[in-house]
Amino acid sequence: MVVGLQWGDEGKGKIVDVLSENFDIITRFQGGSNAGHTVIIGDAVFKFRLMPTGALRGKKVVIGNGVVVDPFVLLQELESLRSAGFNIDLLVSDRAHFITPYHIQIDQLQENAKGNQKIGTTKRGIGPTYADKISRIGVRASDLLTSLDNPQWKILAETSTSRIQELHHEKIEDSTLKSLDAYSETMKQIAPFVGDTSEYLNSAIDAGKRILFEGAQGTLLDIDHGSYPFVTSSNCVSAAASTGTGVAPTKLDSVLGITKAYMTRVGAGPFPTELQDATGEALQARGGEFGTVTGRPRRCGWLDLVALKYAVRLNGAKYLAVTKIDVLTGLNPLKVCVGYEIEGTELKTIPASSVEYSKAIPIYEELSGWSELPKVSDSDAYSSIPTTMLDFLKKIESWTSSKVAIISQGPDRADTILVPDVLPDISIDV
Ligand code: IMP
Repeated sequence: MVVGLQWGDEGKGKIVDVLSENFDIITRFQGGSNAGHTVIIGDAVFKFRLMPTGALRGKKVVIGNGVVVDPFVLLQELESLRSAGFNIDLLVSDRAHFITPYHIQIDQLQENAKGNQKIGTTKRGIGPTYADKISRIGVRASDLLTSLDNPQWKILAETSTSRIQELHHEKIEDSTLKSLDAYSETMKQIAPFVGDTSEYLNSAIDAGKRILFEGAQGTLLDIDHGSYPFVTSSNCVSAAASTGTGVAPTKLDSVLGITKAYMTRVGAGPFPTELQDATGEALQARGGEFGTVTGRPRRCGWLDLVALKYAVRLNGAKYLAVTKIDVLTGLNPLKVCVGYEIEGTELKTIPASSVEYSKAIPIYEELSGWSELPKVSDSDAYSSIPTTMLDFLKKIESWTSSKVAIISQGPDRADTILVPDVLPDISIDV
């Protein structure tokens, strides 16, 4: 399983792509089209919001019941992949909740109503769709495929309409109405891909198939464990792979957590190591830190080991992939956060309150930087890692008690180093 250990955008798409050859099936288990996964193959750049990354490698791809699905996005991604020559073998859970045009309008209205307390959502209808799921007024694939006259759809339509009109004093937007018209037509095209994914995945496990569970967003955006309320509306931690697919926790295997060599965050919320100076700008420019979904610039800062340790604990991440290590090249000294000071008290973990967390002043330790990257073209790239980079990686390992298994120093598959003898039964073909 692959999960993000920060505020999303850790480079999960690339790592899942690199690992996908070792698996038969790739499944997503939470989030929706708020995610943005970029995969680069040769000169071609692919950006997905919903489709599991393995779609590009001819793998069976599954969208589990924990995902909220925007059928327009799904269809558009299917069509663009098909026109690029890919044959997509997709199964979408009949129990997955579906995002409707109402949810998207409500997401936008809720954000606008928050004034300067905005979360900075992606405005893709994620929060309102999960809220309706928990309120038991949502619509699932199985409801939508019966017909749009079914009782569940009626409840959703009436509730959404009154929320938009009475709560927000707004009318239903023309774009909402227009897309509602197209909704059932789109559902018809998605219908052939809908089925019982839990049954499928469990049978596949029984038949000895290997499944890669692909997380979206990141631990610090988790609805329970993230910097609430500046979070997304799903559980992003590894445990969600079970509820989000219907595969029991006893059948799940090891967890690979992904962390950038520094931190980024898009949207509002506490970020103790944020750098609002030339170094922050350098990280943003070198790392191309602009959102895949919204194009918003990402806030950048030094690696926060306190947050990383917290995320490793929540996910049980025994293995780590450290991405974008190239972005730190030439910076000297490097800083890593090893504690917070909040109103005179030193803390070694993340406090529950975001008000308190936003007061955290990072306590840094300095490390020597490196000026050159390992030569990935060498057959033994690992042995060409500069000592200072090894020290940086060892610092991460000693803080988290996890093992660095993969180092990524660029967007291309070839820019990847598999640390020898760490990940059992995994090879990477660059
Ligand atoms: P929502 O998921 O659209 O409701 O947005 C809630 C928060 O999560 C906002 O701060 C978003 O910027 C952030 N967010 C959601 N999805 C991602 C992602 O895939 N990467 C990074 N941030 C995300």
